[in-house]
Amino acid sequence: MVSTHPAGVQNSGHQYLPQIVSNNQDVSPNQELLPLSAVVNSKDHLEIGGCDVKTLVEQFGSPLYILDEQTLRTTCSQYRESLRRYYQGESQVLYASKAWSCLAVCAIAASEGLGIDVVSGGELYTALNAGVSPDKIYFHGNNKSRAELHFAVESGCTIVVDNWYELHTLVEIVQALDNKSVQPRMMLRLTPGIECHTHEYIHTGHLDSKFGFDPNVLDELFAFVSKQSAVKCVGLHAHIGSQIFERQPHRDLAAVMVNWFTKAAGYGLSLTELNVGGGLGIKYTESDDPPTITEWVKAICEEVEQACRAENLPLPKLLCEPGRSLIATACVTAYTIGSSKVVPDIRTYLAVDGGMSDNPRPITYQSVYRAVVGNRMSQPLTETVTIAGKHCESGDVLIKHAHLPKTEPGDILVVMGTGAYNYSMASNYNRLPRPAGVIVADGEANLILQRETFQDLVRQDRLPERLKQG
Ligand code: LLP
Repeated sequence: MVSTHPAGVQNSGHQYLPQIVSNNQDVSPNQELLPLSAVVNSKDHLEIGGCDVKTLVEQFGSPLYILDEQTLRTTCSQYRESLRRYYQGESQVLYASKAWSCLAVCAIAASEGLGIDVVSGGELYTALNAGVSPDKIYFHGNNKSRAELHFAVESGCTIVVDNWYELHTLVEIVQALDNKSVQPRMMLRLTPGIECHTHEYIHTGHLDSKFGFDPNVLDELFAFVSKQSAVKCVGLHAHIGSQIFERQPHRDLAAVMVNWFTKAAGYGLSLTELNVGGGLGIKYTESDDPPTITEWVKAICEEVEQACRAENLPLPKLLCEPGRSLIATACVTAYTIGSSKVVPDIRTYLAVDGGMSDNPRPITYQSVYRAVVGNRMSQPLTETVTIAGKHCESGDVLIKHAHLPKTEPGDILVVMGTGAYNYSMASNYNRLPRPAGVIVADGEANLILQRETFQDLVRQDRLPERLKQG
């Protein structure tokens, strides 16, 4: 639900604030830089979910992941409702929890009616512990271990089988069970051979990909699966990449997948679920222009319906599994500004108290972020600085060219769009404890990730007796 900004705050005028009109349900969070509830309060501070970011940092420490519940619930409902509106058949949105897997986020997604896509035993464990029903959990991954497959079978989730080795292992595991009535639901992941424009590391649907069965083996695969009684094949899955701004690749994907359904029918397999993966992009900078959630969903629905009509197939249950576009914009990371260094005629570095350990995306993918100074929201942007992290690595730069007001040590730098693939890819590099995370709504902030301590850092260390000093 999108609400009006509370009275007494400036809700316009700042370049990055969402220009929300009362009751306008059409604001697509993936087209905004700041979370939907962001406002500037009378102290000239950024407020999210009714909480002043400077106060949050004083209360919960720095750096801090701040997750806006309103934005997250809005993206969930936009995906769910667009599917309901534009698709005649059954549908289900799955949250790709690799974007940010933790109990609170999984619980919110589930409370919005979403299922969860997991890719490891750890993510499965998290989703189950968050209370997500196993019949709404889909387990992906290109090299699930035997232990993970056992766990998946035991849990009752749907297993998205990626390759022959896994298919044979799964069948073997099920056949060895004492309980002969267990018949796990599975889907097959295929590589559609569709190119899309995104970073080389994050597109997965082209043929030279480590994921999924090659469509050249479809006949053999369908023939094999149609004879298996150990597992129940319910459908097909594909995912073509991430941070995609075009709609055509997903349209093409939908058409190709419907074609595979027809082929499967030729082998007596009546598949009922079609999962087009995730991939919709978000706005990280002013120049990013992704389609809205509704536009993306609508394009896929139209294509699936049209292709099914053309091939005379009943409409399958349509699934999609957004990660980034569901959660990225809902979160900002607040850092405290510390030291600075002027390199004459070249640049000024401003250092913050985190960096590549809490957000490895800039150093990994050269990702570009935008930031504001959370306690100087309306001050003129007179400085161009480079935001450096605190790690012992020259490449540990969060933002190369940040346009900011004049700052002082102790000011709060707020980096936007950090909800996806930040916490989930965070590390303890240089033995930095991972930050805390809070969820904010209606002026209340609740801890969802406790800040790691130095004790946490050595908790799994073991010091063999013979190495003990003194
Ligand atoms: N489904 C599957 C099978 C996936 O592999 C992915 C992402 C998704 C869904 C969700 O895609 P999304 O809606 O988030 O684009 N670490 C990279 C992104 C890797 C994406 C991996 N797969 C990054 O930080 O950009």
